[in-house]
Amino acid sequence: KKHLLSISDLSVPEIEGIFQTADSFLDLSSRSVRKVPSLRGRIIVNLFYEASTRTRTSFEIAGKRLSADVINITTTQSSVVKGESLLDTVRTIEALGADGIVIRHSSSGVPQWIAKQVGCHVINAGDGLREHPTQALLDLFTIQKRKKNLSGLTVAIVGDVLHSRVARSNMIAMQMMGMKVRVVGPPTLIPREVQKWGVEVFHNLREGLEKADVIMLLRLQLERQASGYIPSIEEYSRLFGLSPEKLSWANPDAIVLHPGPVNRGIEIQGEELFSDRSAILDQVHHGVAIRMAILYLLMAGGRPEEENRAPA
Ligand code: CP
Repeated sequence: KKHLLSISDLSVPEIEGIFQTADSFLDLSSRSVRKVPSLRGRIIVNLFYEASTRTRTSFEIAGKRLSADVINITTTQSSVVKGESLLDTVRTIEALGADGIVIRHSSSGVPQWIAKQVGCHVINAGDGLREHPTQALLDLFTIQKRKKNLSGLTVAIVGDVLHSRVARSNMIAMQMMGMKVRVVGPPTLIPREVQKWGVEVFHNLREGLEKADVIMLLRLQLERQASGYIPSIEEYSRLFGLSPEKLSWANPDAIVLHPGPVNRGIEIQGEELFSDRSAILDQVHHGVAIRMAILYLLMAGGRPEEENRAPA
């Protein structure tokens, strides 16, 4: 494959192949300073039109662990502020020699459009309300690490589904992997079309969490709320924020995920009391290995065999 634009671009065997490759990178992605030469001489540009901590940093670490040269473009410090168009920006980046562009943009569909304009690899790091495929992959990888098998697990995705590209990519990927998906939240934050996506809808947290193996909390996207979506933050938090007491409504070994950044006191109260049932930092840790696997699988093709090998 040349690009990763949507989770639907991938088949189940391809997702499993990404997980196997990520496993082989897991030690390298954390404390070790050792690098592999797989992408030596390749240039990866992180082009982020929206803020990011986890995704941008983990793509940077991932590229560097693979020996690529990684350039971060912060659009507020680029010629975008002088009015340069998206098309001119990506063509300029390609002319500068980029082999891959990792793009985050507030408009849905931008990565697909860019992939038609440039010859280099394009990876979607989050587009508008549409998708965040690498987040879904690291989420599934984290669940698999904790639960061993994905198939048959019940996951409750809780909160602001309406504005969540993370939820969209996960709903597709989780169902591909045989998981039962519920979405839980106030009616104003659950899009109507969700009924067509094969998921169960709950507006009551207790009912939505019953017998759940995995709870995926979503960030309440305060920057995207129109008036009337939530009665008040306090009410949302009271009804849908997860506390140790509400966690007890799920299966006793249920784990908790959150893509971050967390609105502390809104989606989560007293996470420190969740103990090892919180997998939130595991998600961050796994994000590096998953993004290494994606960069490797997309971009290392055609290299000499000895440079083109994932570590054993
Ligand atoms: N999960 C996620 O996309 O986090 P960032 O916005 O910090 O990249």
